Amino acid sequence: MFETATPITPSIGIEVSGVSGEQLANPDAAQWCRSALDRHGVVLFRECHIDDGDLVTLSRLLGDVVVPPMGGDKVHPEVSAISLDPAETVLASYNTGTFHWHIDGATDAIPQLGTLLTALEVSTEGGDTEFANTYAAYDALPDEEKAELVGLQVVHSFATAQSLAHPNATDKQKAAWAKVPTRVHPLVWTRRTGRKSLLIGATAGEIVGMEPQEGRALIARLLEWSTQPRFALRHHWHRGDLVLWDNTGMLHRAIPYTATSRRLMHRTTLTGEEAVA
Ligand SMILES: [Fe+2]
Repeated sequence: MFETATPITPSIGIEVSGVSGEQLANPDAAQWCRSALDRHGVVLFRECHIDDGDLVTLSRLLGDVVVPPMGGDKVHPEVSAISLDPAETVLASYNTGTFHWHIDGATDAIPQLGTLLTALEVSTEGGDTEFANTYAAYDALPDEEKAELVGLQVVHSFATAQSLAHPNATDKQKAAWAKVPTRVHPLVWTRRTGRKSLLIGATAGEIVGMEPQEGRALIARLLEWSTQPRFALRHHWHRGDLVLWDNTGMLHRAIPYTATSRRLMHRTTLTGEEAVA
């Protein structure tokens, strides 16, 4: 459908140039995006300058769209602003948590299916987004190592993720984080299709039944493995870029940028379709 579509690396990403936002707000484009997401994990439309209306239309064609309880746009409640500027979003202080590798909604029973993110303003320093494909990372593990991961369960929590971003947190901050329920998920997520990915990242704390230190070390080792250059890509944003990713399998993080940066993204999120199993 998109003649300029070119894989970014053999293991992750496909990019399309020369397409406008209006061309994406239709069922054929959405269907193309769904299958590209399945095959490549990350889909980039360079400088397509999609507006909020078309972003919502495309998102609704891709699946059920999350309406965020906080931070949604007044005209398009599905659209959230991502910024470190408190004037742009009430969630600004939490967004430094995105500097660490993570999967969105990993503390939910059904993590979000995907995310659409478009750049309205970019940062002059920092602010790139990196992605790492945990299907590819799992597939490439030696068989003995895959066997060792069978049946392992991981405790995911908001507090674990926030403590990475705010290592000197006050007791009051820690108490607020602790109110968000924790969730236990298998370390290896097996889909209905049989595909497997590693469910790790900033929310992953301990492994059930393992010494905390030993569990954390295993998770750290798997994170290092999964985020090697051969499974990862780094996107340097230009104004108007739109990136879609399969949130269930793509770890991602933002390269740090400052609160005074003009970086401003608009985002929509697709509701998860498959519980972790
Ligand atoms: Fe995220």
